[in-house]
Amino acid sequence: AAMQGDVLAKERRDLKQAELADKASKEAGKTDLGREWNDPMAGEKRFASDLRQNAAAAMKGTEVPEWKKISSGRGAEMGKRSNLSIKEQREGLPAFKMRRQFLEAVRQYQLMIVVGDTGSGKTTQLTQYLAEDGYGNNGLMIGCTQPRRVAAMSVAQRVSDEVGCRLGEEVGYTIRFEDKTSDRTRIKYMTDGIMQREILLDPEMSKYSVIMLDEAHERTIATDVLFGLLKKTLKRRPDMKLIITSATLDAEKFSSYFLECPILTIPGRTFPVEIMYSREPESDYLDSALTTVMQIHLTEPAGDILLFLTGKEEIDTSCEILFERMKALGPAVPELVILPIYGALPSEIASRIFEPAAEGSRKVVIATNIAETSITIDGIFFVIDPGFVKQTAYDAKLGMDRLQVTPISQAQAKQRAGRAGRTGPGKCFRLYTEGAFENEMLPTTIPEIQRQNLANTILMLKAMGINDLLGFDFMDPPPTNTMLTALEELYALGALDDEGLLTRMGRRMADFPMEPSLAKALITSVELGCSEEMLSIVAMISAVQTVFHRPKEKQSQADQKKLRFHDPAGDHLTLLNVWQGWINAGKQESWCFENFIQPRSLRRVEDVRNQLVQILDRHRLRIISCGRESLRVRQALCAGFFRNSARKDPQEGYKTLVEGTPVYMHPSSALFGKAAAEHVIYHSLVETTREYMHNVTAIEPKWLVEAAPTFFRVAGTEGRLSKRKREEVIKPLHNRFAGEDDWRLSSQRR
Ligand code: CDP
Ligand code: MG
Repeated sequence: AAMQGDVLAKERRDLKQAELADKASKEAGKTDLGREWNDPMAGEKRFASDLRQNAAAAMKGTEVPEWKKISSGRGAEMGKRSNLSIKEQREGLPAFKMRRQFLEAVRQYQLMIVVGDTGSGKTTQLTQYLAEDGYGNNGLMIGCTQPRRVAAMSVAQRVSDEVGCRLGEEVGYTIRFEDKTSDRTRIKYMTDGIMQREILLDPEMSKYSVIMLDEAHERTIATDVLFGLLKKTLKRRPDMKLIITSATLDAEKFSSYFLECPILTIPGRTFPVEIMYSREPESDYLDSALTTVMQIHLTEPAGDILLFLTGKEEIDTSCEILFERMKALGPAVPELVILPIYGALPSEIASRIFEPAAEGSRKVVIATNIAETSITIDGIFFVIDPGFVKQTAYDAKLGMDRLQVTPISQAQAKQRAGRAGRTGPGKCFRLYTEGAFENEMLPTTIPEIQRQNLANTILMLKAMGINDLLGFDFMDPPPTNTMLTALEELYALGALDDEGLLTRMGRRMADFPMEPSLAKALITSVELGCSEEMLSIVAMISAVQTVFHRPKEKQSQADQKKLRFHDPAGDHLTLLNVWQGWINAGKQESWCFENFIQPRSLRRVEDVRNQLVQILDRHRLRIISCGRESLRVRQALCAGFFRNSARKDPQEGYKTLVEGTPVYMHPSSALFGKAAAEHVIYHSLVETTREYMHNVTAIEPKWLVEAAPTFFRVAGTEGRLSKRKREEVIKPLHNRFAGEDDWRLSSQRR
């Protein structure tokens, strides 16, 4: 077990190093670690070497820069805000000046667009103005969408503080599997995904008097789909108002799509931001970023720092490195408060980022893209922008969506820089060259709908009775190919019939708030008599990233405990073992601590599981246990995840059955190093330097054919599709395996 721990640790290190090396090689061998800033705004060049000398002196402890002296000047100004009353703070926001005009426009027009800089008060104030004006009366609500869960939660918290109520009373939020609203709720924040589900159940949106589609510039799939759907709702609900809010906007495009509706602009109140580029491409943006944090902290006047990184792992690692570097400098150096923020962070930690740093100390917030526009942190004077973002994009080679680190767009770079100019004149350190900005970055980000898998979205539209997808009123229609791929996927899952119409299975799948394959596995488990078990597995996968706790100091102990849950059949059943262990132990916390399991995660799993039971009940789907026989659970998994199947490669690793792409067993898998797992299915792929399969289960290949006969049909078998449909809609219905003569499925010819 200890060895496995070592393997894990080493694997992680190797991954990280290889990843960095990979990045370095991409940047054509530029290894200029002596970094120089090039400042086009000021017209004179500033060299980082000077800054570095100061930093070096401070690091030796010989000479601490005049940090505190400078700090008191700006610190006082910055501290002012936190001493203001809530009323004063609210009235100081740019949105307040537009309050009357805004309410008048809402009264006059059914549909309008509001544009205003980030932090001007769109999200927190406009909803309150509407409530103050009576739009939350008569049992109707003001609904406001956010593309991100953390944003919906934190904004609802803030607004309930401003209103002076408990969260969940007059002001509440709903995110997937978590509803913090009540009968009294007048202002409801939610993710756009939640509103998409609500409109599926109630196309009239009869609970709402006003709907605000916030952060429209983000162009998430759900928001884009809501654009089209709510336009239709407006026709049937002349009393309902729709407000589209956005930080930046292609005004002409939006206005023509939204029926030439009026645009209200909230005048900004921003300070100039000095932009500094790297002189040469950075070989290691993470290292450059952290060095820059230290440089700023040791040599720049007071003001907090915002650093944009791409994801949880990177952010957590950076926090640790910075912490160590600060510790090494000793007490002579002013305190640096290091705060991470990303989507998966528990909400109580997330709220700390809004608290001002104590006088004489500096705060550095290390954030994902979430801090670009959805969350505004006051007091930021310095922004560090490495120029990358992690995005999901459809990967044709894998036949699925994949998270990828990609360069940001120019529009995003401008947004990021703007975050430094809210409290006073700021600085933005771009860790890329001016040439890269001009020539390599796209002007604007490609909308999600044009780059992601649409199976989920199409299932939902079909469930709403929208069959003419090509005719749907998209602001930017997705590529036809992307739609066909999704239709094909839904057909193979049995959600659509030969004619592309929703089946009973499809209707049921649409009611589960999860990816179609997971819903399919759950529904199939009822037929296979193992829904009791599958419920737990699906809840484990949907509710949390992991239930396992692996503290730094006790990694090998934790790994040893985890090993005891490992199931020879794979990770899904390992998760089931954990769940059953917890139930058998009477859900005791002490059992969790003993076994390095996070009790809070399990309680969340339980909550999600209960919600799934309700949906099953609604569909009269029975909950049946298969006892200790896991075979049927694995068959049910195949019903949803047959696309994510792979076969052991004689050389090394695995190859996916669909495209023959090499994939590897994740070292944390229960099947890692197990020879028996010849054929497997996996829940997802995690990309580092290689494609790692995550949540893997061993299967028999014949189950795949049973699960998806149309998908895995063999040569010579004609599909049951009408010819026209086959050509139009689902052409490449896979007989890719026909050529493999040793493919065992050929004996399964039906
Ligand atoms: O939506 P928009 O970007 O226009 O601004 P907002 O999110 O409504 O933010 C208005 C003000 O509220 C900013 O000064 C934020 O810093 C503050 N705010 C906060 O202190 N805590 C939050 N959880 C959210 C916003
Ligand atoms: Mg906002």
